[in-house]
Amino acid sequence: MPKYQKQAKKAALNANEPLYGFIPRRVTGAQVRSALEHDLNPFTKQQHFAQYKRILEARKKLPVYSQMDEFLEIFKNNQIVVVVGETGSGKTTQIPQFVAYSDLPHTRGKMVACTQPRRVAAMSVAKRVADEMDVQLGRQVGYSMRFEDMTEAGTTFLKYMTDSVLLQEVLDDPTLSRYSTIILDDAHERTLATDILMSLLKKVAKTRTDLKIIIMSATLDALKFQKYFSLAPASLFELPGRTHPIEVFYTQEPEANYAEAAIRTVLMIHRGEGPGDILLFLTGKEEIEDACRKIKLEADDLVNQDPDSVGPLMCVPLYSSLPLSQQQRIFDQAPKPTMPNRPPGRKVVVSTNIAETSLTIDGIVYVVDPGFSKQKVYNPRIRVESQLVSPISKASARQRAGRAGRTQPGKCFRLYTEKDFMTQLEEQTIPEILRCNLSNTVLQLVKIGVTDLVRFDYVDRPGPEALMRALELLNYLAALDDDGNITPLGSMMADFPLDPQLSKMLIISPEFNCSTEILAITSMLSAPSVWIRPPNARNQADAAKASFTVPEGDHLTFMNVFNQYLTNKGDKRWAYDNFLDMRALTQAENIQGQLERTMQQNDLPLLSLTDKRKLFQNIRQVLVCGFFMQIAHKEGDKGSYLTVKDNQVVQLHPSSGLDSRPEWVVYNEFVLTDRPYISGVTEVRPEWLLEFASNYFDLKAFPDGETKRALQRVQNRRLGRAEDSEISAVSKPRKNKK
Ligand code: CDP
Ligand code: MG
Repeated sequence: MPKYQKQAKKAALNANEPLYGFIPRRVTGAQVRSALEHDLNPFTKQQHFAQYKRILEARKKLPVYSQMDEFLEIFKNNQIVVVVGETGSGKTTQIPQFVAYSDLPHTRGKMVACTQPRRVAAMSVAKRVADEMDVQLGRQVGYSMRFEDMTEAGTTFLKYMTDSVLLQEVLDDPTLSRYSTIILDDAHERTLATDILMSLLKKVAKTRTDLKIIIMSATLDALKFQKYFSLAPASLFELPGRTHPIEVFYTQEPEANYAEAAIRTVLMIHRGEGPGDILLFLTGKEEIEDACRKIKLEADDLVNQDPDSVGPLMCVPLYSSLPLSQQQRIFDQAPKPTMPNRPPGRKVVVSTNIAETSLTIDGIVYVVDPGFSKQKVYNPRIRVESQLVSPISKASARQRAGRAGRTQPGKCFRLYTEKDFMTQLEEQTIPEILRCNLSNTVLQLVKIGVTDLVRFDYVDRPGPEALMRALELLNYLAALDDDGNITPLGSMMADFPLDPQLSKMLIISPEFNCSTEILAITSMLSAPSVWIRPPNARNQADAAKASFTVPEGDHLTFMNVFNQYLTNKGDKRWAYDNFLDMRALTQAENIQGQLERTMQQNDLPLLSLTDKRKLFQNIRQVLVCGFFMQIAHKEGDKGSYLTVKDNQVVQLHPSSGLDSRPEWVVYNEFVLTDRPYISGVTEVRPEWLLEFASNYFDLKAFPDGETKRALQRVQNRRLGRAEDSEISAVSKPRKNKK
C-alpha cells in the first residue's frame, strides 16, 4: 500500500475526526450533534469559519433540530419515510443534512438528492445549506436545474435539484444508481414531475432495497402518500405545528382591482400597524415589479411628510427569473430608523407563490393575500395550455396566512370576502397532472418502457382525454408509431429537455440546412424574455425593439437578436443601449451550448445557408414541422385570426412584430389575458402545411369552414401543378424518342 494511502486510512480512523465511529445508516443523533460541534468541518477537514457557529445556533432553534434522534431512528428503520411539518420547521434545509450524516454518501460514491418543485427554491436553499455546512456552493453541496448545473462530479454529495431534472435523469439511469437517498420535497404541491417521480420511485424501491426515499410535505396530504406507498404508521415523521396565533381579516366587499387593493393594504399596514415585515402575494414578474415601484414611491412620500410616525420602508421583489443574488435580498434586514428615536423600518416582500411554501422568510408578521396565483390550465378539447391568473385554493390561503406567525403572533389580510372564501375557493389545489399538457411526460414514460399509460400506477390518474391528446400529438410528430411504440426519432426527442415540438425542430433542422438558426431560436424560446420596457422609456424601448424586427416573423426576430448579441458580446453597453436583458441573453447562450452538446451526442450537425432568402424559408418550414398544430388563419379582414382545427378567435399579441398580417401564421404560444392572443408569430405558407404535416392536415378529416376551404384551394392548386409536371415528365421522354 503506498504511503499516502496508508496515511489516508489512518486519518479516517483518527479518533479526533468529526465522523469517527460513524457507521452508515446506524448514525445516532448524539453522534451528529458532536460532529456539528467539532472544530473541524467533517467534509473539508478545515477549521470552521466564524459564521458557522452563528448559523448553527439558529439551526438549533428549528423544530426539526430537537427531533433529530427520532428522525434518524425512523430513517434507519424504514426504506420509505413520509415527513410532515409546517413550512418553516426546517424540513428542506435540515433533513437532507441529517440524511447526509447518516448515509455518508461521500464515502460511498453516492449522492443525496432533494428535489424542489421550483427553480428558485433549489438554488436558494442549496446556497443556504452550503453556508450552514460551511462549504462552497457547487462543491459538496450543489444544485441542478434545467440548463444550469452547479455541481461537481465526484465532490457533490448533497444535491438540490428541480423535480423535472431528476425525472430527466431517470431516462439515462432508470434505477437512479447515483443516489443513496432521494428526498421529494414539497410533495403536497403535486407538480407533474413530483407525481411521476413518486410512481417511478415506488417501483424502483422494490428492486433497489438500498435506496431510501423520503416524501416531505407541508400539509396533511401525508396520509395520501402513506397510503399510496402502503406504508406502516411507524414510517411517518411528524413535526409539531406552529405556535403563534394568526388573526385573519377579510374585506367587506369583493375588490375590483386586487393589485391596487394590495398596494393600499400594504401602505395601511405600514402606517398603522406595529413593527414586523410584510409579505404580499402577487402573480407574476410585471405585476410584482409594478407594485414594488408604487409601494416604494408612496412609502417614501409618507416618510417625508411625517418622519416621526412613519418608518422607512424597503420593498423586495421575489419571482423565479430573478438572479440568485437578488433573490437573496429577501433575507436582508429591514432598514434602520431614520433617526434613533424614530419608528423602525419595515421590509415588504412582494412575491409569487414561491414564498407560499418553498421559501421561509423570517420576521414576517403581516401577510396580504389577494387570493390569486398564476396556474397552468390545460384544456384538452382545444389542446391549449396556458398560465392563467386563477383563484387559489383554501389550502393555499391557509398556507399563506401561516407565513405570518413564524416568529410572533401575526395578521393576515385577505382581499376577498369571508363568504367568497367559504363558498368560492376549492378545498385543495388540483394536482398539476390533472390540468396540464402531458405530451412531454408521456414521451418520457414510453421511453423508459411504460407501455400501458392508462393503467400506470399514478398517484392521481389523469383523464383519458388528456392522455389521448398527448399520444395523438406524439404520433403526429412521429415520436410514437401508430401502435404507441417509441420511434428512433421519439427516443432522440426524449434526450432533449424540451417540449416535443422544439426537440422535433432541432432534430430535423439539419435536413433543412438551418440547424444553427433553429438552435438559436429554440434557445431564445427556452430563456426568459429578453425585452426590457422601463415605464419611463417605453418609446425608446419600442424603437430599439423595432430595429431588431424581421418582417417575416418573431422567430426570425429572436434569431436576429441572438446573433447580434453574439457579435456584440465584447461591448458591455450594447444590451443596455438596446433595452435588452443581458442576463436573459447570457442564459440563452448557455442553453444554446447545452443543447448543442445534446445535438452532438446525437450526431446532429450545425448547418446554415448563405442564401438568406432560402435560409429564412427553410427556417419557417422547420417551424411548421414542429408546430403544425399551432397554426392560425386570418379571419377575413377583421384583423383577427382563427386557430386551425379548434377555431378559436385570437389576436396577434401586442408584443409581436409581425405587422404585415399574413394569411397563415405559426405561433409559439396561446396567451389568455383580457382576451385570447397568440404570441411568437411567424408567417408560413399553406402549401407547407400540406407538404410537411400531411397527416395532420388531412383535408378529408378536416372540420368544415373557411380554413378548410382555403386549404382545399391550395390543395387543388398543388394537385393541378403536380398533374402539369407529370404531363411534362411523361411528354419529355416521348420527345426524346422522336
Ligand atoms: O422546509 P421548511 O419550510 O420546513 O423550512 P426550511 O426551508 O428548511 O427553513 C428553515 C429556516 O431556514 C427558516 O427559518 C428560514 O428562514 C431559514 N432559511 C434561510 O435563512 N435562508 C434560506 N435561503 C433558506 C432558509
Ligand atoms: Mg421547505
